[in-house]
Amino acid sequence: MARPLVARAVDAALDRSVVLGYTTIGLAVRRALPGWPPDPRPGVLAGRQVLVTGASSGLGTATVEGLADLGATVHLLVRDEAKGAAVAGRIRAARPGSELRLWRCDVADLDDVRRFARAFAAEVAQLHAVVHNAGVMPPTRTESPQGHELSMAVHLVGPVVMTEALRGVLAGGRVVLVSSGGMYAQRLRADDPELVRDDYSPTTAYARSKRWQVEMAPLLAERWAADGITVATLHPGWADTPGVQESLPRFRTLTRPVLRDDRQGADTSVWLAAVEPPPPTGRFWHDRVERPTSLLPATRPDRATRDRAWAWLRQVTDLT
Ligand SMILES: NC(=O)c1ccc[n+]([C@@H]2O[C@H](COP(=O)([O-])OP(=O)(O)OC[C@H]3O[C@@H](n4cnc5c(N)ncnc54)[C@H](OP(=O)(O)O)[C@@H]3O)[C@@H](O)[C@H]2O)c1
Repeated sequence: MARPLVARAVDAALDRSVVLGYTTIGLAVRRALPGWPPDPRPGVLAGRQVLVTGASSGLGTATVEGLADLGATVHLLVRDEAKGAAVAGRIRAARPGSELRLWRCDVADLDDVRRFARAFAAEVAQLHAVVHNAGVMPPTRTESPQGHELSMAVHLVGPVVMTEALRGVLAGGRVVLVSSGGMYAQRLRADDPELVRDDYSPTTAYARSKRWQVEMAPLLAERWAADGITVATLHPGWADTPGVQESLPRFRTLTRPVLRDDRQGADTSVWLAAVEPPPPTGRFWHDRVERPTSLLPATRPDRATRDRAWAWLRQVTDLT
């Protein structure tokens, strides 16, 4: 159903207000507006396999639940097997008969990512979607085993290497990258991808890596289109997850009454992975609607910056 002009205007106003749009208020108002994109059809993922990273907590767990409710066999990628097993046990107890499979992998470690992808592709012939949801906000500048700044490793480098290694089984499928509205405040720093030039700030490092995800998505979409793979980035709004509780305690205290719950925060991840037909590739989404990637001209990269960023990403991920 096409969205009436008034609905689009209210939605855009919520978006620009940030506080209203990103909270439970934004989601509740948008759902009530005419033209809210319909839910995926019940059972639409029956017989399909979906992989979710960061499945042991917050939005990742809720994404697993949402996909399982639509009939998918869900593969939970976790870095802590015991924590993952406990989460899978809780999901199974609440949803008897749900098909869940646990995989251990550290997304920041490219050797581990390649090992995981080989093992996964040897067992799963066809993957409908991968939701790259794993996220971190390192309190101090930290490097991955391959020497990449950790937020860039977890949010961008690891997911790209993993997707590339899974291309064969993902043919015709979908890639969903969970970004953040925080990326609106940052520009694409192709001149400093590893965050070595400025004093380190956790929120800045986090938001910069999330900007990279959004800016690289159209280029990744172009690359993977040859295999019929679509790419979507999204921001979930603000949700009261363990990640927010640990990394942003003051923000959480201030916003707690209006923070989304995990299920609300995972809504667009599940929708993008499941809805038919697949949403157009290379776009950025929030609350099931495509969003602008920059609100300020200063954060919109020029061609040369994007090309330089793409060249760096290709080099560190060994994309030929
Ligand atoms: N909550 C929000 O308001 C919000 C807003 C904007 C964007 N996001 C994004 O949403 C995603 C989920 O966030 P959340 O709030 O649910 O955070 P969370 O509760 O901290 O969950 C993060 C998940 O990522 C996993 N993870 C971290 N590093 C990993 C690694 N190297 N390898 C494998 N898994 C790793 C964690 O594993 P452990 O369980 O072992 O720690 C955990 O399962 C993140 O990408 C985050 O940036 C969240």
